[in-house]
Amino acid sequence: MEDTKVMETLRKKFFELYGEGEIRTFFAPGRVNLIGEHIDYNGGHVFPCALTLGTYGVARRREDRKIHFFSTNLPDTGVIEADLDDLVLRKEDGWANYAKGVVWAYMSEGLVPDTGFDFACTGTIPNKSGLSSSASLEVLVGTTMIGLFGFPDDQVKNALLGQKAENQFVGMNCGIMDQFASAMGKKDSAILLDCATLDYDHVPVVLGDASLVIVNSNKPHELVGSAYNDRRRECEEALMDIQKVKDIRALCELTPAEFGEVKGKIRNEVDLRRAKHAVYEEDRTRKAVVALKAGHIEEFGKLMLGSHVSLRDDFEVSCHELDVLVDEAWKVPGTIGARMTGGGFGGCTVNIVKNDAVETFKEKVGRNYTKGTGLVPSFYVVSIGDGAHEVTE
Ligand code: GLA
Repeated sequence: MEDTKVMETLRKKFFELYGEGEIRTFFAPGRVNLIGEHIDYNGGHVFPCALTLGTYGVARRREDRKIHFFSTNLPDTGVIEADLDDLVLRKEDGWANYAKGVVWAYMSEGLVPDTGFDFACTGTIPNKSGLSSSASLEVLVGTTMIGLFGFPDDQVKNALLGQKAENQFVGMNCGIMDQFASAMGKKDSAILLDCATLDYDHVPVVLGDASLVIVNSNKPHELVGSAYNDRRRECEEALMDIQKVKDIRALCELTPAEFGEVKGKIRNEVDLRRAKHAVYEEDRTRKAVVALKAGHIEEFGKLMLGSHVSLRDDFEVSCHELDVLVDEAWKVPGTIGARMTGGGFGGCTVNIVKNDAVETFKEKVGRNYTKGTGLVPSFYVVSIGDGAHEVTE
């Protein structure tokens, strides 16, 4: 379901900035990950779904080789100009570097636009919430180029090029999960994605009399910081130690029992805990998907708790705010699942809450979170939407 009002305002702004004429409109969603955290870069399975929140873009080809970017979320930045023949990261270009990076990534694969284009976008994802506003922008720009320049309509490739932009142009060493979820999401389903092979399966999310509730801690989540890249390095160190005795390509190839046999080879105690998280999170994710398919939502919820505890204690990517949100959530009768979601260090929790308990959940979790942290959280009862597409209405 498209947000008609948001699109109308965006189109009006586009005409104001770039003049009347023909336009095309595109959308790419944000995502929430249900389980399988910090294992996309360890060859594991993740289980995200696309949201109906995301980023809308309006675009039109130009006659010259310039690209113009504008975001209604950051109007003060004005129109940011780039040139197809000179795509470089410039600090002052801020958010537009993610967009420029995607054009650069397409060109690096021989998909070269024959003209520049004008582009304006609006995001409905709360800023810095960890619901992948940057991946949705990347996937949106790719989808826009597919539409404007007739590039192959391949959303898996689009996700990979979004990741390439972020890794190699912006300098954030993220895995494939966020871009894949934005590009390949499906209404009312989560994506079971094997990050080692990119095989995937859409699994219907049937929660019976319960809903998905996202709680934003409103503690900004900043990923480009070094902590994310540190976690990746620690996992790689653990992998290298294990590879001395066992022939594996990624930590998530190990079952917990196999891990028990080789963990003594990991020399550093911190690396050991990171690896333990990866191996057990993979195991939880597989079990969670089996439970969901069988309609055992309570079991799914328990695995979410296990995931949170592991992210908090072994992977150490939670924070006081997220822990308070999760602890308070579990105190509310009617809560079936609660955990931090995404990169961590702030951002959001994802919860499964019985429909008749949602109001009490908001009230109690909200009040006690503010008491414990001084911050006011935001609640979103969310729907699962489709992946990136052109909006044709
Ligand atoms: C961020 C990254 C993803 C993934 C998650 C943690 O969202 O962009 O690739 O690693 O963190 O699961």
